[in-house]
Amino acid sequence: MTVHTPIESSSRGVPPWALGLTVFVFLVGGVYFASNLVGENPPFAIPGASAPAPSGGAPDPAVGQALTEQAQPSCASCHGADLGGQASFPSLLGIDDGPVSENLQQLAADHPEDWVALWIDGTTPETEGLNRFGMPAFGEQFSPEQIDAIVAYLQTLP
Ligand code: HEC
Repeated sequence: MTVHTPIESSSRGVPPWALGLTVFVFLVGGVYFASNLVGENPPFAIPGASAPAPSGGAPDPAVGQALTEQAQPSCASCHGADLGGQASFPSLLGIDDGPVSENLQQLAADHPEDWVALWIDGTTPETEGLNRFGMPAFGEQFSPEQIDAIVAYLQTLP
């Protein structure tokens, strides 16, 4: 018969390395917390999450591009896959040179800065009475800020 003698425990009290680790963790945490208080840490960014266009900021062409695809019906479904025009639908390239459509010359002459946004919106008094030739008034779908983003995107097209 074997007699089991209990192994004498040598782990009484906190070992020095554990103490050291605890102090270290508190130090690092403290430094991080302190830097937070002085506002040095950048805000956490969630990768892949697209921030909404900041109100008051410059219109974001990337947001505008997404909106041209989300539009019901999408801009490309009439204006062509690259928005370069198809059939009777005018090209949206080179929009800064003014409208292709005769129908829009007067609007562009009266509102050289924002005729594109006014036309896309189509719900404001400026475009009242204009024949839209089937193009929806997107002011019912999009806010003025979203339409500005769409215009910013169109202006990036070659
Ligand atoms: C259902 C078809 C249709 C859809 C969808 C459509 N359009 Fe149009 N768009 C037209 C037609 C037709 C014209 C020409 C109107 C005219 O001759 O007065 C036009 C004209 C334009 C013009 C003026 C072009 C020029 O140089 O004369 C712009 C800018 C424009 N569309 C932007 C857009 C944008 C941006 C979208 C998406 C948000 C869009 N369109 C979606 C049919 C469409």
